[in-house]
Amino acid sequence: MTIKDSGNMHFESIAIRGGYRRTQENEHSEALFLTSSYIFENCDTAAKYFNNELQGNVYSRYSNPTVRTFEERLAALEGADRAVATSSGMAATLSVVMGLLSAGDHIICSREVFGSTITLMDNTISKFGVEVSYVALTDINDWKKAIKPHTKMLFCESPSNPLNEVADFEALAALARQANCLLVVDNCFCTPALQRPLEWGADIVVHSATKYIDGQGRCLGGAVVGSDELMAPVIGFLRSAGPTMSAFNAWIFLKGLETLSLRMRAHSSSALQLALWLERKDQVVKVNYSGLKQHSGHALACKQQDDFGGVLSFQVKGCRDAAWRFIDATQMLSLTANLGDSKTTIVHPASTTHSRLSNDQRNAAGITENLIRVAVGLENIEDIQRDLEFGFGVI
Ligand SMILES: Cc1ncc(COP(=O)(O)O)c(C=O)c1O
Repeated sequence: MTIKDSGNMHFESIAIRGGYRRTQENEHSEALFLTSSYIFENCDTAAKYFNNELQGNVYSRYSNPTVRTFEERLAALEGADRAVATSSGMAATLSVVMGLLSAGDHIICSREVFGSTITLMDNTISKFGVEVSYVALTDINDWKKAIKPHTKMLFCESPSNPLNEVADFEALAALARQANCLLVVDNCFCTPALQRPLEWGADIVVHSATKYIDGQGRCLGGAVVGSDELMAPVIGFLRSAGPTMSAFNAWIFLKGLETLSLRMRAHSSSALQLALWLERKDQVVKVNYSGLKQHSGHALACKQQDDFGGVLSFQVKGCRDAAWRFIDATQMLSLTANLGDSKTTIVHPASTTHSRLSNDQRNAAGITENLIRVAVGLENIEDIQRDLEFGFGVI
């Protein structure tokens, strides 16, 4: 079943059936094509594949049927012409920049993006002559003021990690049109099950499939999603540079997509319950979750998102020491930097995920020393709360 055939199906059905063409073996579960290259019938057809007279599989860095199924399914879920799978979320961001920008161009990036995105922009992308400026995600005037004649891309992540700040996609898309540049959104936290940025005017979506698309913490992967025209140079970069997705990982992500809607609803429901519970705790200074009415991004999240997602953060009374004691006292929760897993994860962003940022960058991004991030998994909420009580018991 191709994207075009899936036009009348609902999201949940596309997530299960989209993009797949059954082989002659009549398998029910999608076939996994673990092959690095493909056989040519004879020298004449081989030559025709190489000079583009014939289209088909040549080598798995260029195309692979399992990866293609994942790409077609994800494109349909995001409402795009095309998705291109990558070896990780960071490879997706790198491919967008390398495919679409040149030396002398300028990117405006929200400060509140994932730590490695800032490292990639500052240490690698800027080395190739692309200038990067940072602005506050939610301050549209800041974005406007940062526009330069050579600005070619606005890049943001929404909701942000770990404070759950929410970008106004319509305002950013209008600014991008005015400035004749592209709006790129990292949709890792919501996935298309909760938010489809292209519907609000974004040009490109990037994903870390490592997170909710997998959903069980097994594989690294990513994707870039957008129009055929914009994806062509991204595909060109990937095919020659090589950070493409492996067939095995694509197969895992296909299985992840099948349950994505159900899982995102369950993650969101437990995260909201947990946020409300945390708010009532005396030792908690502040809870950051866009599902809470008083959160600064609540109204926008209600407009742009179908639910609020599974990640929240909270500040405990005290400083780094209190946050570390709290985390170390938990027993069931996994102390790990990953998120989007069926297992609830807990982490101290200032000393881990955001530790490579300078103090100034961290302060500007609101990553305080007493902040703890929880990516709420699919365990029973009472067990998650009981485990967090161990933390409250030691601060
Ligand atoms: C929002 C966001 N974008 C991108 C990435 C990078 O993804 P990956 O680890 O798959 O390279 C992450 C990883 O945590 C992330 O949280």
